[in-house]
Amino acid sequence: MRKCNLLFLVMACMGLICPVHATFVTLETPNTRLILDATEGQQLAMLYYGDKSATPDDISNQQSAISNQPSAAYPAFGDIDMIHLPAIQVQHADGDLSLNLRVKSVEQLSTFNFQLSTFTLADTRQPLTVRVCYKAWRNVDIIETWTEIEHQEKQPVTLKRFDSGYLHIGEGDNVWLTHLHGDWAAEAVVTHEPLTRGLKVIRNTDGSRNAHLDAPELMLSLDGAPSENSGRVIGAALCWNGNFELRLNAPNNGGVHLYAGIDPQSSEYVLAPKRVFTTPHLALTYSTEGMGGVSRTFHRWARSCGYLHDGNATRDVLLNSWEGIYFDITEQRIIDMMDDIAAFGGELFVMDDGWFGDKYPRNDDSSSLGDWVVDTRKLPNGLQALTEAAKARHIKFGIWIEPEAVNTVSELYEQHPDWALQVPGRELKLGRGGTQLVLDMTNPKVQDFVVNMVDELLSNNPYISYIKWDANASIQNYGHALTAQRSNSPKGGLTSNSAAVNNLYIDYHLGLLNVLQRIRAKYPDIVIQNCASGGGRANYGLMPYFDEFWVSDNNDALQRVYIQWGTSYFFPSNAMAQHIGGSPYQMTGRVVPIKFRCDVAMSGRLGIELQPKHMTDEERLQCTIALADYKALCPIIQLGNLYRLVSPYNDQSQMTNVKLPETQSVAALMYVTDDKREAVVFAYSLTNFMKQAPRRIRFAGLDPEKVYTLEEKNIRVQYNHAIGAWDKGEPCALHGKQFTGAYLMSVGLLLPLSTEYTQDFPSRIFYLK
Ligand code: GLA
Repeated sequence: MRKCNLLFLVMACMGLICPVHATFVTLETPNTRLILDATEGQQLAMLYYGDKSATPDDISNQQSAISNQPSAAYPAFGDIDMIHLPAIQVQHADGDLSLNLRVKSVEQLSTFNFQLSTFTLADTRQPLTVRVCYKAWRNVDIIETWTEIEHQEKQPVTLKRFDSGYLHIGEGDNVWLTHLHGDWAAEAVVTHEPLTRGLKVIRNTDGSRNAHLDAPELMLSLDGAPSENSGRVIGAALCWNGNFELRLNAPNNGGVHLYAGIDPQSSEYVLAPKRVFTTPHLALTYSTEGMGGVSRTFHRWARSCGYLHDGNATRDVLLNSWEGIYFDITEQRIIDMMDDIAAFGGELFVMDDGWFGDKYPRNDDSSSLGDWVVDTRKLPNGLQALTEAAKARHIKFGIWIEPEAVNTVSELYEQHPDWALQVPGRELKLGRGGTQLVLDMTNPKVQDFVVNMVDELLSNNPYISYIKWDANASIQNYGHALTAQRSNSPKGGLTSNSAAVNNLYIDYHLGLLNVLQRIRAKYPDIVIQNCASGGGRANYGLMPYFDEFWVSDNNDALQRVYIQWGTSYFFPSNAMAQHIGGSPYQMTGRVVPIKFRCDVAMSGRLGIELQPKHMTDEERLQCTIALADYKALCPIIQLGNLYRLVSPYNDQSQMTNVKLPETQSVAALMYVTDDKREAVVFAYSLTNFMKQAPRRIRFAGLDPEKVYTLEEKNIRVQYNHAIGAWDKGEPCALHGKQFTGAYLMSVGLLLPLSTEYTQDFPSRIFYLK
């Protein structure tokens, strides 16, 4: 938290920081501009955010012609007009709730990658400063904003609201909000809605995760109903894993005001003098290329600006044991599964839940979390036998843990009942399995326990190269057993001196971040999957420490089309773990052909999650082909630029209509390399009725001048009666055909996705070169 100050000091000594005296300060990324008025002694004002068509002169001329005061860049309680809401409110020791923040100084730090502008605002009455920071990236259209709050009052100050950032959007007539809402096993449902006048609040108060229900990202389309590849769109992502609140206020006199930050409810933060409270970063982007432009910017930023661990690397193809064998782990079953993934051509095997527990074996979800020792009844030769088996098969080995949790039925809980979050004197609220609790990550001893557990696991088993880090519980018991020991600890990343219980929602995550930083410092190369009952922690607060996340516990390929579609709005494909599941699928009972299941999983980081022993010959052959084709296309799929072509949501109105859809419901997306020489297209038919009009699919992101040759991939296998076995299939008639980029993008192609296929859920993958 203090790093930033230190950096400034060092840079100032080196002469790299320029104090800025001009009143207008312009921050720029390749295609966007943010203009602020930082007149000393005045409120810091936000004048413009958009593309580069506006100059400070334009803004100044416009400004002089209207009587409206410009918006404060960080509106403070006690200093705002009636159309603003406070982005910050504190309670000073004497009870005063107001702040009059005035510009004291401006500093800019230029590095090769970004320009960091820091506006120091001082209260006019109390010794309290707020540094409003903007980091403008040089190679990607993202401006991150956050604040650093500090004071020298005699007593602690209570932070009652402390948003990360605020944005004033000038136009407000026809702004649409796009936002992800969902649930467990139904993550990332896309909602688009016109922003009506008044206040709209998006919150998540789960406590330990924040992406299952309402997600901390949004898009605002400024030109009416959102469109995929055109129109002006603002994107915002709050980089925080805890409770948050996004507020959109559209007052009557026009404009939209966005406020984003930690949810202040039950989170008042008591800040001791001279300590710094740093708010999470809010990443903002602006695109004239529609929602797709915003998505591509977030993907590029995540990969190249440190918001996705090892962001520009491709991920391995894996088999995960969970849906194949659940808790029924034995050495033989695990080794058999390793044989299977090696035979499919996969690169990694991951042993999921069920491998641990001594006194209490982990045979279901009601016990053993916390007891991270191998269950030798299941694995008599320990992890070593498994890692050696993996090595012998030339595949990597990964393992599941849920480090922040404990079951009341566990040795850990018997030894340290006080390590679990709880309200002394109140009955415990128990989670999964009827016994699960969340560990108190604010407690430095618990932090050490988690770090040491991971350290021991990895140092004793150096062949482990992958961890699936799960988090299957919300914070339901809002309290600590060890409040006194917790307070004032400089260790563990706590930034407050307070013993107040109501810092838990924040300090939990600071403790978790501290743990992740310590683990990453020692193990920078371990691949870590971020899982929280599926996609409950898909957010940019955690992804800097994780290489990927488990998109959903729902592996039904049809619903996955929707879940992955929504997730792709903000997250890049190499972060999205997508597995080929079983059929009929255990949650929905849906029977989905293996070809469709493969094609859906192949559009992100591919894996398999079923019992290979139960697969038919057809399924085995299709999977082998899918994996081989995927590995060849992997860099394009995992690192290419995403263009969503046809939304699965487009036909929703028809699907709820009594009438059968006349046109086929399709979802299609593609990835294109930076040089536009190669691309991969995925097309899925979601309805399959006789005599439905086929859907023409127009491609995007290609070079209109280039001629592309189409190659069909993961071709559906067919039964060869001559040899009495399943065999490679024939590609469709488009295979080998050439088209100009202009034709593919303007006219588009009718892809063979219908009845000639004589199978439900037809789908196709094409490689374009
Ligand atoms: C969570 C995860 C699953 C699996 C189970 C194991 O639900 O999301 O993928 O790891 O836990 O208990």
